[in-house]
Amino acid sequence: MDKFYTTTAIDYVNGAPHIGHAYEKILTDVIARHFMQRTNDVFMLTGTDEHGIKIQKTSSELKMSPKEFCDANAKKFTDAWKLLDINYSKFIRTTDEDHKKAVQNIFEKLLKQGDIYKHSYKGLYCAGCEAFLAEKDLDENGNCLIHKKKPEVVQEENYFFKLTKYKDAIIKHIKNNPNFIIPTFRANEVLNQLENIEDISVSRIKANVSWGIDVLSDKEQVIYVWIDALSNYITALGYDTVNNSGLFKKYWPADVQVIGKDILKFHSIYWLAILMALNLPLPKHILAHGWITIDETKMSKSLGNVVSPKSIIEAFGLKEPDALRYYMATAAPVGKDGNYSDDDFKEKVNAHLANSMGNLLNRSLSMLVKYFDGEIKQEFIKDSILFEQAKRTIGEVKHCFDYFEVAEAALKINELVDLVNKYVTDNAPWTLAKENQIEKCGEVLYTTLEIMCTISSLIYPYCPNIALKMAKQLKYDINTKLDDMKFNNIKAGKLISKEEITPVFLRLDSELAKDKKSK
Ligand code: ME8
Ligand code: MG
Repeated sequence: MDKFYTTTAIDYVNGAPHIGHAYEKILTDVIARHFMQRTNDVFMLTGTDEHGIKIQKTSSELKMSPKEFCDANAKKFTDAWKLLDINYSKFIRTTDEDHKKAVQNIFEKLLKQGDIYKHSYKGLYCAGCEAFLAEKDLDENGNCLIHKKKPEVVQEENYFFKLTKYKDAIIKHIKNNPNFIIPTFRANEVLNQLENIEDISVSRIKANVSWGIDVLSDKEQVIYVWIDALSNYITALGYDTVNNSGLFKKYWPADVQVIGKDILKFHSIYWLAILMALNLPLPKHILAHGWITIDETKMSKSLGNVVSPKSIIEAFGLKEPDALRYYMATAAPVGKDGNYSDDDFKEKVNAHLANSMGNLLNRSLSMLVKYFDGEIKQEFIKDSILFEQAKRTIGEVKHCFDYFEVAEAALKINELVDLVNKYVTDNAPWTLAKENQIEKCGEVLYTTLEIMCTISSLIYPYCPNIALKMAKQLKYDINTKLDDMKFNNIKAGKLISKEEITPVFLRLDSELAKDKKSK
């Protein structure tokens, strides 16, 4: 594996980022950071989707120009990702000039080769979906099933994309590549949708939708927002612009494109067709994650239960985002829905990060200081069967990540932490010290600390700040690649003094959260 390219969906900027948006960015960031431990070259893309009727309407209601509105809201997303330590390589905004130019070129190319044609059309358009709806997308009152609003009747002459031309090739690709769509159970859903596809409208009359990218050869029309948005995954790498940076050649096709289950159709049908029409390779995997609810309830503005990552970080007084990253990344098995609740958040991170993992390191280092003045003696350094188990865990974690099973991989790490905790309890180094079994006591502490090095590496993608603090106290190089991990990190000599020992994670206090919320 020489490179790894991963993308997230680009978020609509008609509001501020909530915990659902954050979930996706955290998942992708954890995946990117894991693959950084396996290759030297990772590129992670995220950004914002800024055109379309929804943004046009919301900005005009606020008496702002669409661009002013987008600038203000895009900043809320970059601020939130900074707060969560999302380590993206590039943040693309669809209002970026390079992107607009590239999208125009893509449109013209498809027009010239006959994949796009002009056609008169009448349909029902849902601004929430930014898409025309079919009968099956409507409830008994004729409202959009997702947005519960009446779609608008649109009759226009616009441009159409020959989606049907690519139907068979897409079906074949999905059938021949059972892991293309993850989780695999969603592939059938897409195959069913493919049965009834038709060519799709890919432009709107400017008189009706003005906030979009102009069709280069027809100034009356703007390019459909989904064509604009989907193209971001390649335009961000410089596809089809004059200053082609070479990034495109290096990184495309993407290794995994992370999106929510609600937009799988756009990514596994429309996006594939566009790539096929452009004669480009297809992404290796599409990861469709599930939905995040709050206290088991769907987030909605009308219910007033929309939770932002910032509000959680503030309510719990978190100095770093690791706990929230960990909680979200493990909120659901791959592709399944997950939930956020304050109580569960507090309980889970206190149990896993403070009581099990953090405490284990703290206790072992403290005992090393207490019994041996922080020094590892040569005779403590012995091979251990626990190293075999730790090696197996590394393999299992890698295997999980090969299928983007981020929460499942964390379970494997927890199992190793539990095993080491049991090892310490069973061997009771405090008793060994009392009974003057010095060498055995030292060996237990050495073995524990050696495996803590592995654990710090494995937890790093989820909790980069905590992992760094662990590694620092262990004098361990956290940049060690997973395949280079050996069990000879802890050397004979002084490891740590009392003053250097700090807890890596402090328990969360729920009273604090309740207090701040009631204010
Ligand atoms: O769909 N739980 O933007 P978006 C989990 N601009 N994920 C959620 C979520 C929730 N409660 N709410 C939203 C768009 N998401 C388009 C994408 S990509 C070329 C264009 C996820 O702001 C959602 O599934 O509505 C999607 O992947 C992402 O957040 C952005 O949603
Ligand atoms: Mg949405």
